[in-house]
This record gives sequence, C-alpha cells and structure tokens, in this order.
Amino acid sequence: MFPLDKFQKLSTPFYYYDTKLLRETLKCIRESISENMHVHYAVKACANPKILSIIAQEGFGADCVSGGEIEAALSAGFPAKKIVYAGVGKSDSEIMLGLKNNIFAFNVESIPELEIINQLAVENGKTARIALRINPNVGAHTHANITTGLAENKFGIDMQDMEHIIKLASEMKGVKFIGLHFHIGSQILEMDDFVALSRRINDIQDRLDSQGFPIASDINVGGGLGIDYEQPDANPIPDFHSYFNTYRKHLKLRPGQQLHFELGRAIMAQCGTLLSRVLYIKSNPIKNFCIVDAGMTDLIRPALYGAYHQIDNLTAENTTDFVTYDVVGPICESSDVFIKNYGMPRTKRGDMIAFRSAGAYGEIMASCYNCRRLPHGYTTEDLL
Ligand code: LLP
Repeated sequence: MFPLDKFQKLSTPFYYYDTKLLRETLKCIRESISENMHVHYAVKACANPKILSIIAQEGFGADCVSGGEIEAALSAGFPAKKIVYAGVGKSDSEIMLGLKNNIFAFNVESIPELEIINQLAVENGKTARIALRINPNVGAHTHANITTGLAENKFGIDMQDMEHIIKLASEMKGVKFIGLHFHIGSQILEMDDFVALSRRINDIQDRLDSQGFPIASDINVGGGLGIDYEQPDANPIPDFHSYFNTYRKHLKLRPGQQLHFELGRAIMAQCGTLLSRVLYIKSNPIKNFCIVDAGMTDLIRPALYGAYHQIDNLTAENTTDFVTYDVVGPICESSDVFIKNYGMPRTKRGDMIAFRSAGAYGEIMASCYNCRRLPHGYTTEDLL
C-alpha cells in the first residue's frame, strides 16, 4: 500500500500524500452532491501546493481564513468566484486582497468587520458579496477545542443581532448581502449534530421570512464531517452519502437557494501519512520508549488535543511479537508524546514508522520549534 522502497531513500520525517485516494475521495463527493450543492475545500487542513492544485483541477472551490490562504488558493488555480473567506479577524490588507480578486463571498463575523469591508469596498469602487456567519448555538459532539458553534465561542454573530445586521448591510453601498454562514465544529461523526444545525437554519429562515426579509441566495453550512481515526484502512473514505443526504433531508432550502460546504478533514485526513524513523528504543523498569525522529513540531494533534493517530511499524520483522511502547518525539517538552502504552510489533532502531490519518491539520500545523526544519510533503506522483 505504501511505496516503502521509495520511502527508504528519503530522509525522515516527511509527509506522504496518496493522491489516488484523494482523487477517489473527490469523486465520491462529486457523486454524492446535487446540482445546487457546492463544496469548498477548507485550505486550512492542508495547503500543500500539489494537493491544492489537484483539488482545484477537480472543480472544487476553496474556503480560506487568511490572505495567505487566498493567495495559495489562487496560485493553485482555484477560480476567485469559488473562494469564500471566513475569519474573526480579517485585516484591512486581507480584505483588500479579497476585494481586488472579487472572491465569491466574505463570511462576516461582526458589525465592525462589516463596516470596514463596506468602507474599503466603497473607497475602491467595489461591491463585496457577504454572508453573515451566524453562531447557531448548536453544540457538536467533538473535542472542546474544535467546537465553534456555541455562544461561548468567539466565532460568528449572535442570532439575536441577525435582523439588525442584515438591515445595516442592506443600507450599505459597498456590500451585497447574499447569505448565511454556519460552522458548528470539526471531527463530527454524529449526523444528529448536522440535523440540529439544519433545524436551526430552518427556524432562522422562517423567522427572517416572517419579517419580510429577502431570501438569501446562498446558505453555507461550513465543514466538520469527521473521519475514522481508529480504522483508516477499513474506512479510507468518509460516508459522504449519509452526510449530504442528512442536509438534503432536513434542511429546507428555498427555491433556487444554493447550498455551500467547507470540508477540510473529510477530504484530506486519510490521504496523508507522517513517516518517521526510530532513533532509539529505551527501557526502564516501567516503560519502553520508542523514540522517533518526528516530534510534536511535525504533528501536534496528539499533544494539543490528545488526538489518536494509528501508528504502524512498516518494517517490523516479527508481526506477532508485540511489545508495549510510549511512542515519543525528540522535542524538549514532556507533551511531545504521540501515544502511551501502545502495542506494536517489536521495534528497533531504523524502523520506518507511519502515523496514519495525518493529511489534515498535520503538515500545515508544523512548526520550527527547537530550530527544526519543517517536514517535506511528497505526493504519489513525486515518488514515481
Ligand atoms: N469552515 C470553518 C469556518 C472552519 O472553522 C473549519 C475548521 C472548517 C470549515 C473545516 O472544518 P473540517 O471540515 O476540517 O472539520 N486543528 C484542528 C481542527 C481545527 C478546525 C478549524 N476549523 C484539528 O487538528 O483537529
């Protein structure tokens, strides 16, 4: 499944992206959506230029959260008319970048931001299409650090201010109100959470209708579909069919309304693997440590969220002789631990270790702490 002979020639740690799986994943999405559904890839999950250009070529849009991501999306070939731009703290120069390129929509998160977008647009003779990011106060069954749709979270506009802001926007010369945007969190596996969001949007639309507000042309439900970290081989492609069907069934769109999605993890996570070599095996009376050359600087999810990534020893000699290890990195932090008490085939110096399901929020969150170099990212094509 992995081109191990090719891996052996490369210096570790590095990321490997399976572009065949990526193309299959994208095909599955295309086959599960209807004509009024538009998927924007959340660039924050992985901005490797080769990955971005594959996703752009396959016809998807981009969901960006910074000027840097807008630039990365444009240079990878995403058309500006398929770029949406969210973020609680858009700087003036980032807004200008979006305006100059005439991106599809700004997902606006506050009144002061709306005012600045309007001012910059008027000053530059532009009209910004805007969607209001509404905080739907819908909880998601996921890690506290990655829920976003609760009143206590910093994201979006409170539901009670919605009418006021739509009125404000309609009086502004530099903005055109086109829709409503939501995002309740990430790594969500319970379809009921998306049902709850759909119902909340139905209530919101009814409420706006009853007050005579014009119908928004676009509804954006954000991203959040989770993946199977426990069994990447059994479930390499998420259940897109159920996901899109959930919205088809529960979200009451008005005639002509377009539905947008911002999926990141579900597209990329299973396509990426972090490869590392074992440096040392060290044992004390209570522990065996498997010390690898990748650290939290290369993959921070376990240290930051206690996230689980399956770890495979690709070069183990005896796959029946299991030993329990703490798999740790070389960084000078006690939290630089990938997993504790993990059963793996007996492992030795030089073994090639794969951290699975690391294609989303892996390479992109790498840092240079301890003056380490950033990991390389190779795609299937790079290794042919
Ligand atoms: N749209 C918005 C407005 C978002 O904030 C996010 C993710 C997405 C879309 C894409 O969500 P996805 O489909 O990937 O779940 N670093 C964390 C995840 C942070 C997600 C931030 N926002 C992790 O490693 O789990």
